[in-house]
Amino acid sequence: MIQKLTIRKIGPGEHATCERILRSLPDWFGIEAAIVEYVRNLEVMETWLAETTDGPVGFLTLNDRSETASEIHVLGVIESQHRQGWGRRLVEHAEKTLRARKIEFLEVKTLAPTRESRPYERTRKFYLGMGFKPLEENRLWGESNPCLVMIKHLDAAQPAQLRNTLIANLKRSNDLYRELAEGIPEKALGEKLPELRSNTIGQQLWCVVGARESFARAIKDGSWAGFSCSLTGEGCLLRAEVLAALDVSARMILDVLPTIEESDQPRCQFALDLLEHEASHHGQLIRYIYGLDLEIPTSWKKKYALG
Ligand SMILES: CC(C)(COP(=O)(O)OP(=O)(O)OC[C@H]1O[C@@H](n2cnc3c(N)ncnc32)[C@H](O)[C@@H]1OP(=O)(O)O)[C@@H](O)C(=O)NCCC(=O)NCCS
Repeated sequence: MIQKLTIRKIGPGEHATCERILRSLPDWFGIEAAIVEYVRNLEVMETWLAETTDGPVGFLTLNDRSETASEIHVLGVIESQHRQGWGRRLVEHAEKTLRARKIEFLEVKTLAPTRESRPYERTRKFYLGMGFKPLEENRLWGESNPCLVMIKHLDAAQPAQLRNTLIANLKRSNDLYRELAEGIPEKALGEKLPELRSNTIGQQLWCVVGARESFARAIKDGSWAGFSCSLTGEGCLLRAEVLAALDVSARMILDVLPTIEESDQPRCQFALDLLEHEASHHGQLIRYIYGLDLEIPTSWKKKYALG
């Protein structure tokens, strides 16, 4: 189920909520003096709290650095809620606020890769995914905590809209395939179009999975290395295997999309080709839904106005 997220400025007495979030992330915020400092700074720095209907999930504090630059002073999302898009939403909200104030640069400091840390490797992937670029490494926090300064040009951030649209459309496409594969009788995976030359629904989904896997490799390597698919002929007939392959292949592609620079034409082209491929199978599968008199999944009805 998609949860609704509200982002608002913290109110009086809500510092404790932010402190709770910080203290729930000991792999990132383990130095007591730093936590105390972050909490104290909430008094003077603009802080945005994100909450779902279940309560607060994260917060972001901004520190204005100059007339043209601001900094993400601290950002935290509770660990059980990671990878739900809340961090992205907080950063996008901050960026929108800053653009409205004509701020051009957004900076963030985080642990540099020269000190090994699995948790901070994830943090850097997040910031890279959000369009930040490494600017410099320095020793602001001492020799044992090398500091990586990352920066994002907020005007240049606008074209990332295309990449975000690609990500959103591919996610939606996966939801469509999932709902279809979950809703039809399992035996329909082995069915062809009656009286027409065709393959089976399972083989259609095999092609979707294989294309995602192959395009994910192509985007990663920057060149096409041929088509292959991990789903087997027997697997195409089994709902559980099809659903698992759809999810794994969707994750593969969603993991590489944030690495695409919009100036990198070949990689952008691969991503667009994949989206085109997904849509062409939507069209084909609609013929199967009608031809085999299958129940039309709700998401397909909405997306393609089927009735
Ligand atoms: C960093 C942090 C705020 C990210 O928040 P989040 O809600 O988990 O991140 P999102 O779900 O919004 O991720 C947005 C995008 O970032 C990228 N990303 C995030 N985590 C990633 C990971 N572990 N590996 C690869 N990419 C990642 C992805 O592109 C992701 O989009 P997707 O899920 O559609 O693929 C959160 O993990 C956190 O609180 N970490 C601990 C504290 C911290 O590191 N704070 C920052 C230090 S100032």
